[in-house]
Amino acid sequence: MTVLVPTMGSLHRGHQALIKRARELSKDVIVSIFVNPLQFENKEDLEKYPRSPQLDIELATLAGATEVWFPEYEDIYPGAIETLSAGSIGSLYEGESRPAHFDGVLTVVNRLFEMVKPTHAVFGEKDYQQLFLIKKIAKKVEIVSVPTVRSGSGLALSSRNIRLSESEREWASIISKALTAASLEKSVESAQRTLDDLLAQEKAFTKDYGVIIDEKDFSIATQMSQKKRGLVAGWINGIRLIDNMPMNAGHQS
Ligand code: PAF
Repeated sequence: MTVLVPTMGSLHRGHQALIKRARELSKDVIVSIFVNPLQFENKEDLEKYPRSPQLDIELATLAGATEVWFPEYEDIYPGAIETLSAGSIGSLYEGESRPAHFDGVLTVVNRLFEMVKPTHAVFGEKDYQQLFLIKKIAKKVEIVSVPTVRSGSGLALSSRNIRLSESEREWASIISKALTAASLEKSVESAQRTLDDLLAQEKAFTKDYGVIIDEKDFSIATQMSQKKRGLVAGWINGIRLIDNMPMNAGHQS
């Protein structure tokens, strides 16, 4: 049994939780570290993406990785490759703001699966839409998900957080505060209102989207949706942050 943990490096406790979960499944845990240009629509974002290979090796090994693999661009994309399409769900929310982002994610994940041939692969719930789309394309690989790891203030851990100052981190915690408050509401309507109101309170946060979706198909949730989830994305000082949480909102049993 081989478990793959695909990452773009700049590892943190969130990645370590994925690696630890992988290690519970198998003693053969490969962590791939590849900053995939295909999933960056913005050249500056790609250039500024944090990189710390030496520390990554240490953190991955400490968490239980048996191999840390840094493929080269040519290994992943040796000429003509099959580009995957994320379809209509891939163009919603995160995909609306970042056209072709999910096509790039699915293409690289598919290539990593082809090369490593893992039995399992572990991904974080923080990138919830990504997780959903990967589950759809994974035919021979079992996808295991791990809950989001948060800092003391509730901020979802992300490699991009390294670019936030201390005050910016404080301001960014409005995202998890708003999602938590919305998750306790009794209806979709009140959850949406709470989410909107709280996100608007933090002037340093520029909202991209804040929606309550039906987990089944990412449509806007109705009261009848079995499983509802709040998705939020936006920017603090130009740095993009995303998060999500399950919503209670009058759970239908
Ligand atoms: O979540 C990430 O870090 C990336 O999108 C992934 C899955 C490693 C693909 O490049």
